[in-house]
Amino acid sequence: MATDGELVLEGVVVTGDHRGRELGFPTANVELPAGTVLPPDGVYGGWFERSDGSCFVAAISVGTRPTYYREGGGRLLEAYLLDFDGDLYGERVRVGVGPLVRGQARFEDSEELTDQMRRDVEAVRAAAERG
Ligand SMILES: Cc1cc2nc3c(=O)[nH]c(=O)nc-3n(C[C@H](O)[C@H](O)[C@H](O)COP(=O)(O)O)c2cc1C
Repeated sequence: MATDGELVLEGVVVTGDHRGRELGFPTANVELPAGTVLPPDGVYGGWFERSDGSCFVAAISVGTRPTYYREGGGRLLEAYLLDFDGDLYGERVRVGVGPLVRGQARFEDSEELTDQMRRDVEAVRAAAERG
């Protein structure tokens, strides 16, 4: 699924704050090897390959989650997999980071964030359907 020049990162899915499930957007938090250079903070379209080789379109968030952490939130890469429901903890996965959808923002509350996440996911879905 990788295309020329695309950033592909490999890591292990670790437990997050479990807020994602409450928000209706459970994410896989991917722990990357120390020293991995992340792309700039923001929301990206991309893909997510499980250890069994199955692949999903994903909305990827890179950043410190400023809606919840004013400072000190570590920089994370998390992926929301479209059309997936299941447990990914402990899996070694590959993530392909595609085009930037928007920068990371701080929202007033969880509802504003989830409204935006819904739009992000639809933008990623539409781009994937265009191919
Ligand atoms: C598509 C997408 C966009 C996101 N955009 C933002 C954002 O702009 N600002 C922010 O604070 N967090 C953003 N997040 C991260 C959420 O805050 C995070 O997924 C949520 O708090 C759940 O965290 P957890 O997996 O550690 O429980 C985004 C996550 C996704 C999947």
